[in-house]
This record gives sequence, C-alpha cells and structure tokens, in this order.
Amino acid sequence: TFRCVTCTAPVNIAVIKYWGKRDEKLILPTNSSLSVTLGQDELRAKTSVAVSKDYTQDRMWLNGKEQSVNTPRIQNVLKETRKRLSDSQNETELLQNVHIVSENNFPTAAGLASSAAGYACLVYSLSQLYGVKGEISDIARLLLSCRQGSGSACRSIYGGFVAWNMGELEDGSDSYAVQVAPEAHWPEMRTLILVVNDQKKDVGSTEGMQTTIETSDLMKHRVTIMDRRMEAMTEAIKKRDFPTFGKLTMQDSNQLHAVCLDTYPPIFYMTDVSRQVIRLVHAINDIYEEVKVAYTFDAGPNACLYLLEEDVPRVLSLVQHFFPPSQDKGEKFVTGLSVPEVPVCSKDVSKISLQQNPGAIKYIIHTKVGPGPQVLTDP
Ligand code: DP6
Repeated sequence: TFRCVTCTAPVNIAVIKYWGKRDEKLILPTNSSLSVTLGQDELRAKTSVAVSKDYTQDRMWLNGKEQSVNTPRIQNVLKETRKRLSDSQNETELLQNVHIVSENNFPTAAGLASSAAGYACLVYSLSQLYGVKGEISDIARLLLSCRQGSGSACRSIYGGFVAWNMGELEDGSDSYAVQVAPEAHWPEMRTLILVVNDQKKDVGSTEGMQTTIETSDLMKHRVTIMDRRMEAMTEAIKKRDFPTFGKLTMQDSNQLHAVCLDTYPPIFYMTDVSRQVIRLVHAINDIYEEVKVAYTFDAGPNACLYLLEEDVPRVLSLVQHFFPPSQDKGEKFVTGLSVPEVPVCSKDVSKISLQQNPGAIKYIIHTKVGPGPQVLTDP
C-alpha cells in the first residue's frame, strides 16, 4: 500500500507578538498573541506526506535536501499527531513509516515565519493522510500538535485574523488558536513585506525569548498589559478600525524590540534599514494626519507593513522612492499582487527627511489576508 497527501499552509505575521514561554517543553507562551494569515499565492509551505509498508524509516526532505527527522520538534510533532489521531482510523497506517517532502515558495530563513508555515503544513497534511474527516471536529488537538513544532505555527491553521490564547492549564490543553475573523471580514487589508535581508538570522527566536524571560525586567511589565492589548486589538479588527489596528501593531512591535534590547546580553533584530522604514512610516502617517500604514518586525530586520488597498499605490511609490531597487539584477522588485503604478508625489517627498544612504531593500512582496491550509490532492 502507498498513500500520499499534499497540502499547503500559510505564513502568519503577528500584530500582537508572542515572545516568551512559561513552559519550554510544551511550548506554552507567557502571553496571548494575534496574527494575520497571509495569502498563499505569495507565501506558503507545501508538504506531501506519504505512508507505505515499504518505508523502513521516517524520512524528510526540506526544499530538496534531506533533513534529519531526529530533532526533538519533528519527533514531537510526529508522535503527538499520531497519538491525537489514533482514534480516527486505520491502525496499520499509523504504524507505518512516513516520508515528508516540504518546500516553501519563498526563501527559508528570511525571517518570514517559514517554520510556522512548515510545521502547520506538516501537521495538517498528516491529519488529512490519517483521515480526519471533513471539518476537523477536534482541530484543537491538531493545533496542540502544531504548537509543539513551533509556537506561532498553531496560528497558521486558520485563515484571516487569528488569536493564540495563552491558556492557564499546566498541561497546555487550553493553549491554542482561535479565529477572530475570517479573511473576508476585512478584504481591503494588504501587506507589503520589505525584505531587507534573507540571510539566516543571528539569534533564533526560541533562544532569544528564553534569554529575555531570564533577564529582562521590562518583560515582567509587558506580560501584565497583554490581556488588555489583546482585547483592544480584537475590537479594532471586529470594527475594521484601521488607525487603532495600526497604532497597536506598531506599539507592540516596538515593545517587543525594546524587550529584546532589555535582554542581557541585548538582542538586536532591527538594522539601520529597519529603523529608516519606521521613520518613513511615521512620516507618511504624519502627512496623512492619520495612521494609514503600520510596520511590524519579527525576529529579523524585515519590515511587514499593513495598510488598506486604496493606500498601497501612494505608499509603495514613497517606499520605492526612498529605497530604490538596486539596478544590477533582472529580478522584479515588487512581487505578488499587482498595483497600479503612480508617480511619486514630490510634495510628499519634500516633507520627508530620512538619513542618507539608509541601505537597501532587496525586494517587496505584496499580499493580502488569506485562508487557512488547503488540500491539493485527496488521500
Ligand atoms: C517574533 O514560533 O518561532 O515571530 O515557539 O520557539 O518556535 P518557538 O518560536 P516562534 O516565535 C515567533 C516569535 C515572533 C512573534 C510571533 O510570531 O508572535
């Protein structure tokens, strides 16, 4: 026997950030978080999983290269998923070895939450393979398996706007993601990802957040305000109130990076380019006299901008004016959803002063809010 399923899963970028674990083994967070699921035409993981009685061991290939399955996180995900699905069907297949082939349609380690999409995709594909039918009745159990691969992965199981409630129980069974609103709720929402650097990052988020928990006093303050922040963000999304959504997004990103600076030794994820992007965004909002665009940064220098569809052409023209594409490559500078090109407004430009030579943005990915994982082939 041989069976194979292929699924895709999206990237999610948090607007209220997860940073810190109260239990490292079970991957339980010190605060709740909230993210936006992005469009899969632009950013997704794709995973095929196959079972056969002829496979002599579990094996895995990532972007064409064989990787060890003997990492604690992969083992956890395989073990937990099999355990949680064990009542769903077919005992013999659950005992067979699995081959996993996974690839991203964007550079790995770009600081673009590739591991979240990857783990979510693996768990989702396994759930389809082992025959969890139709609407996954106990999706919470799958979310728990995702979370054991990488905390933020549990938010990639849903489309739209997704909260990961931290939960209170020691065994982590109440720490999982819920959809706050589907993608159709706010269809005008757009994202521009300004890729500054697609090299592997310095300090991984797992290690970074652990050091923060051990050493940062500011972090103690952060955890006390997060419930309120989650409530305010949820309300802003429900009301489609962009200025509030944007301001909270920027404040939360800034506090995450302040907490990183308060970590000892300090952790720097943003670069000069990141800080210039922050200045540019605030200057644009000053011109509009309203928050029209918001930035957020994860554990890396890339900026993720949130804004509404109608503002994309003007904002993009300004970003490209201040961060012109380098001439030497034939590659497209802006990829993803197409945008009507508008000439940059010289009046806007004259009101913005940035430092000279801030450094380059490599390319820009334009996408929108998207759905959760998809099955490409039936079992
Ligand atoms: C800054 O989910 O990568 O992107 O649970 O240790 O795998 P582990 O960490 P991970 O952390 C993501 C941190 C973040 C913020 C966020 O996505 O909420």
